[in-house]
Amino acid sequence: MSNRSQGYADVLVGLQYGDEGKAKIVDLIAPEYDIVARFNGGANAGHTVQTPTGTVVLQQVPSAVFRPKTSLYIGSGCAVNLWKLRAELEMLESLGVDLDGRLAISDRCALIQPSHLILDELNGDEIGTTKNGIGPCYADRASRFAHGQRVNLQIRDVLANADDSCAWMRSGAQVALEQIDRLDVRTLADVEERLASLADCIESVRPFVQGDPFYLQRRVLNGERVLFEGAQSVMLDVVHGDQPFVTASHTVPAYAYVGGDLPPRHHRYTIGVAKALTSRVGNGPFPSELGGERAAAYFTEACRNGRGAAQERAEYDGRKLLSSSDPMELGIALRMLTQEYGTGTGRPRRIGMLDLVQLREVVSNFGVDLVYLNKVDCLELYEESLYSGIPVRVPREGAPRDAPEIIVLPPFAVDPGCASTALLEFKDFVEQHIGVPLIGMGLGPERGHIAEFFALNDHVPSVDAPTISPNA
Ligand code: IMP
Repeated sequence: MSNRSQGYADVLVGLQYGDEGKAKIVDLIAPEYDIVARFNGGANAGHTVQTPTGTVVLQQVPSAVFRPKTSLYIGSGCAVNLWKLRAELEMLESLGVDLDGRLAISDRCALIQPSHLILDELNGDEIGTTKNGIGPCYADRASRFAHGQRVNLQIRDVLANADDSCAWMRSGAQVALEQIDRLDVRTLADVEERLASLADCIESVRPFVQGDPFYLQRRVLNGERVLFEGAQSVMLDVVHGDQPFVTASHTVPAYAYVGGDLPPRHHRYTIGVAKALTSRVGNGPFPSELGGERAAAYFTEACRNGRGAAQERAEYDGRKLLSSSDPMELGIALRMLTQEYGTGTGRPRRIGMLDLVQLREVVSNFGVDLVYLNKVDCLELYEESLYSGIPVRVPREGAPRDAPEIIVLPPFAVDPGCASTALLEFKDFVEQHIGVPLIGMGLGPERGHIAEFFALNDHVPSVDAPTISPNA
């Protein structure tokens, strides 16, 4: 625990497969912090924030950008796409957001290069990546040197020598292009276009680049409070997720102190964000998926054919499908009625039931202290489903962890403005299973649609539930 005359840091991570609504929570609690910092991933994230002027999707800039008193930091663990970052900064400027003196970017962030985009395009389909070059970028960071030259470039390299960096990027792209059977003229032109605008991108980002490795620590020692904002989620961690169906960065909370450039001695809470209606976008195991393997195959096919929200809307009536006796169709209906499509890619997200077996394991393994549960209002839709209630995966007494029981909870109506008795009973039920308190629940899409049960700076209440023993 940190010394309170100094500041402290909390870490917020997603507990499932991404898209749990982390940005909404970061935006909510940002006033409790002086700095919100990213520590992993890059433009593969699509963080949706509701603002008074509409919905904004952020990719690389921390989600507290619309809280003007909060500083923002992009830590060295991130993979920065300079072209996309410049566009994001321009978009924010057009919305009147002034980032001067508010945003700092570590000069050690790895850079996404044209070769990374080519290689991800070439190899990403099996995993279902977002094609943002994230995997190849982190791979080059680990390789450091290949085919006779440097392959990892940090922001400080391009700042110090744009010409050399440009030449390395060009030759990396040529090596990547050799892996494509037929020389793709469009891709070649795309590489040259990117390289031609590299110098401009560097200049847009230069004012924000921070070369001081003690930058965050100094601020915390002076009493400031940091919130680390995780991208992707724990189940997509490059080591702890299910290889190869993971992202290429570390998403687990402990990594915040590596990729976020702060000693861990300042840690206070680990905050988890989960979603009552679970989703996964991308291939790979998803134990609670409605419709199981058939639904997974439907997703793969949809990606192959570019089928997204518009096509599903043209083909199905979501309301009618809700009462289908086929769980896969129920999944389609829930996706349509709750808008579960990739923010960056537009892909349909696979839909699953609330999995308290998985959530409990993740909470225990990664030391999560408290949890926000989003999209609780969406559970109402299950009333019309084949379950006539809310299906939830819970452990089966005496059975192995991969043989859980599905129980059906009574449906309840949600009023975004208040917490009903039924909602509080549901809250107790979840807490008993996951073993830590729910601090809040998302009850609707808008900024204010959230029930909060205690304040972050209050003492975190304990939950009287059995914990998972490390020796079990
Ligand atoms: P990559 O991070 O683009 O390499 O993609 C690897 C896997 O992580 C794929 O299954 C992606 O769909 C998934 N993924 C990456 N970023 C996100 C995200 O922000 N939300 C949800 N899934 C993501």
